[in-house]
Amino acid sequence: MSEDTIAGTLDALAGLLPEHLLNPKAAIVCGSGLSTLASSLRDVVEVPYSALQGFGKSTVPGHKSVLAFGLLGPGAGVPVVAMLGRFHAYEGHPLSTVVYPIRVFAKLGVQNIIITNAAGALNPNLPVGTIVAIHDHLAIPNMAGALNPLFGPLRSPDHVRFLPLSDAYSPRLRRLLFRAAHAEQLPEAALAEGTYAWVSGPTYETPAEGRFLRAAGADVVGMSTVPEVLAAREEGMDVLVLSLVTNAVVIPETYRSIKAEVEAELAGRPVVQPPPAVVSHEEVLAVGKQKAEVMKSLVARVLSMLD
Ligand code: 6GU
Repeated sequence: MSEDTIAGTLDALAGLLPEHLLNPKAAIVCGSGLSTLASSLRDVVEVPYSALQGFGKSTVPGHKSVLAFGLLGPGAGVPVVAMLGRFHAYEGHPLSTVVYPIRVFAKLGVQNIIITNAAGALNPNLPVGTIVAIHDHLAIPNMAGALNPLFGPLRSPDHVRFLPLSDAYSPRLRRLLFRAAHAEQLPEAALAEGTYAWVSGPTYETPAEGRFLRAAGADVVGMSTVPEVLAAREEGMDVLVLSLVTNAVVIPETYRSIKAEVEAELAGRPVVQPPPAVVSHEEVLAVGKQKAEVMKSLVARVLSMLD
């Protein structure tokens, strides 16, 4: 994505937005079913992605495809920009398109970014509905398939070639988050900490892949977020990531044995096998809807605590 494209996007935004919304203090990326995060914005101006060059089209049900600029929180409010719908590699978008909005936010002066997503739980201690503050990640496509949005020549003299990621997830923002959860009187178990495994999708994990990711130390798994985190860190932003657990990745201890089944049939014995567990996108969206209000109040509270 060239600098010309970014300049064009910025020009378009400057023509559409009032002055007081043009320099958001924070950006929010809303994941599956979480678009109502933006519904409490004041003075809101929605800009469809189709009006902005460089933006792809988000093709996933549950994603709205607009940028919402507005004011959040009490008093004068904090100017923020929310992405309702994001781009994923599995839709066929190059990672440069996936992270393009992050590049635009950086040019608008955004310092803090809150990225949300729906994820499957690998850790059995994270029930459906738990919000997980991400403190680390496994970027499987980076490690196994050379898929990294930072590939290529450096885009700016301010960027570094070998970006360190030991503290990619801002301790300062996570601290605000847990204080916000306390202020919102969230039950202690509602908000946990964990490691996110990024997989390219669009297929959900096989049982063996689930076991692999769990053994490697991941608590949740999903198909988004990490490319945006990498670009945001390259741009020098402070990053907070919230995963909403929408389903459990069931990792069976044993496989259904077709061998045992056939042997039992032939011997005329009954055979009991575990039922297969199958995830669906509808299930993911439904949990997103149920928990959107809690996510919204947490995010709003964190933003009101930024200095
Ligand atoms: Cl189980 N897997 C992946 N890769 N992404 C998800 C998910 C599972 N649940 C929500 N998003």
